[in-house]
Amino acid sequence: MKTVFVLNGPNLNMLGKREPSIYGVQTLDDIACDCRKAGVELGLEIDFRQSNHEGDLVTWIQEAGEKAAGVVLNAGAYTHTSIAIHDAVRAVAPVPVVEVHLSNIHAREPFRHASRVAPHAIGMICGFGPLGYRLALQALAARL
Ligand code: DQA
Repeated sequence: MKTVFVLNGPNLNMLGKREPSIYGVQTLDDIACDCRKAGVELGLEIDFRQSNHEGDLVTWIQEAGEKAAGVVLNAGAYTHTSIAIHDAVRAVAPVPVVEVHLSNIHAREPFRHASRVAPHAIGMICGFGPLGYRLALQALAARL
């Protein structure tokens, strides 16, 4: 079975308590559970991880380059700042990366409008809350 890494960046461990008017009330565990259900439906093995550290995300993207068929990446605030994550996504090509954000980053503060992940992702899904993860898995399954 093909493995997809679902990687989550800083502060996403706070989902459920963090700004629920923006990010909703579901926890990251709820989202992990839904991703695993979607994985069963789509025939994908889900390896779901979260870290508050940029280097962990870089290491995991590199690992995905060796072990995974694809990546769903919500890099949190590092999306907007991290050249290291940009380079890692670029380095693992042709392993496809789908960028996900719970909120619509384009409808928020200007500093969130730019993504360093997007130029090397196969696509981006934002603004649909936790459903975005499931949509990203569907997009990856179609691509794989
Ligand atoms: C986020 C959007 C980012 O701008 C923010 O820093 C996050 C969460 C989202 O899922 O909407 O931490 O990636």
